Amino acid sequence: MSVGIEEIAFYTPALSLDMVALAKARDEEPDKYTIGIGQTTQSVVPNYEDVVTMGVNAAKNFIDRVDRESIDMLLFATESGVDNSKSGAIFAKNFLGLKDGIRAIELKQACYAGTFALMQAKDFVTLHPDKKVLVIASDIARYGLKTPGEVTQGAGAVAMLVSTEPKLAVINDDTVYMVKDEPDFWRPIDSDIALVDGHQSTDVYKDMFLELWGRYKQESGLSLNDFAGWAFHMPYTKMAKKALDQILPEASEEGQALLKERLAASQYYNRHVGNLYTGSLYLSLLSLLDQSTGLVAGDRLGLFSFGSGAEAELFSLTLQEGFEKVLSKQATEAMLAARKPLSMSEYEAVFLDQRFDSKNTQKTDAPAGTGRCQFTGWQDQYRQYRIAK
Ligand code: HMG
Repeated sequence: MSVGIEEIAFYTPALSLDMVALAKARDEEPDKYTIGIGQTTQSVVPNYEDVVTMGVNAAKNFIDRVDRESIDMLLFATESGVDNSKSGAIFAKNFLGLKDGIRAIELKQACYAGTFALMQAKDFVTLHPDKKVLVIASDIARYGLKTPGEVTQGAGAVAMLVSTEPKLAVINDDTVYMVKDEPDFWRPIDSDIALVDGHQSTDVYKDMFLELWGRYKQESGLSLNDFAGWAFHMPYTKMAKKALDQILPEASEEGQALLKERLAASQYYNRHVGNLYTGSLYLSLLSLLDQSTGLVAGDRLGLFSFGSGAEAELFSLTLQEGFEKVLSKQATEAMLAARKPLSMSEYEAVFLDQRFDSKNTQKTDAPAGTGRCQFTGWQDQYRQYRIAK
């Protein structure tokens, strides 16, 4: 019996910011942002989106094709949770019309929790082959205006259905993982922006990738030439290049050329969206699948998951016959192209006009009739949502 990903879908908010405009406004060389860091645009979060709306909007792309009765668990991974007690999973369970006889919970460990959710889903489905698990990884990367991290902001959600009908890819039994206590990135309870030592975090990421790759090779007996491509947690696209460059010489000449070409494919969506923390690796996977040429059923893909603080996991997927049918490349590209580009002053206004204060009774700017799940503001300090049926 094989367990893996049956469905996958992505959602990002409908506003964007151009990184050349950001660089000019921050007195930086545009090439530093677009080449040195590797970002072209970032999604900007209006005050009517949060991790619940984005997660629901991602899952809505496939949920009507699935027998809801079969979904026994909803795992909601985020580090941008909307409440310190109530799980975003419960809001999402309701808005997606899932049954009451379900387990639904929110998981947090920086950008890593989406992978923990995927692995828990795999283990659960292995024990209960007639059940399915919905995994949602939804986040807002928010560092603050005029900070070094600003260029690496972004937002979005990836939803995945895990089952014994892995139409996209089987999750192989080859995972290796590790934890190290590192003060590289964190967000105090009283802060709406992340605090980070950006250079230290980059070093921790690179070191953990190398350590896990060494263990992976030893335990699996595989080498770099066994991989048709890689997807990485991608806080900025240059990060993935820095990681892969460490091991690239291990591949044959032909293999190196192919892996570089596939790296560019895996960076494409992330370059245009920015960091989405828990969902970032899975957006990179979607990007690799949509933007590569020549991938075939049976190909093994490497995945590297990293969350500051720090926790990492390295594993592989095997593509299944007909995997292309699960993808929705045109819809994803159309969603990115349809985003409204903001001027710098519009971006700064949107960034500051959020509803983090539960005592603020002013409604959000949620436009009516979009067919999407929207946050409409606070009432009696309780979050209010609008969901189109
Ligand atoms: P910075 O200090 O502004 O940039 O911060 P820099 O001076 O290091 O320059 C960046 C790159 O641009 C360098 O290339 C420069 O050489 C190059 P590198 O040496 O790194 O290859 N450069 C240029 N290239 C072309 N033309 C030019 C030019 N000028 C300079 N004219 C930093 C950059 C990414 C550190 C910052 O944006 C930041 O702190 N970001 C947030 C933290 C982050 O993304 N860390 C990544 C690893 S941690 C992680 O992945 C976890 C995370 O997702 C959170 C979680 O787990 O929840 C963040």
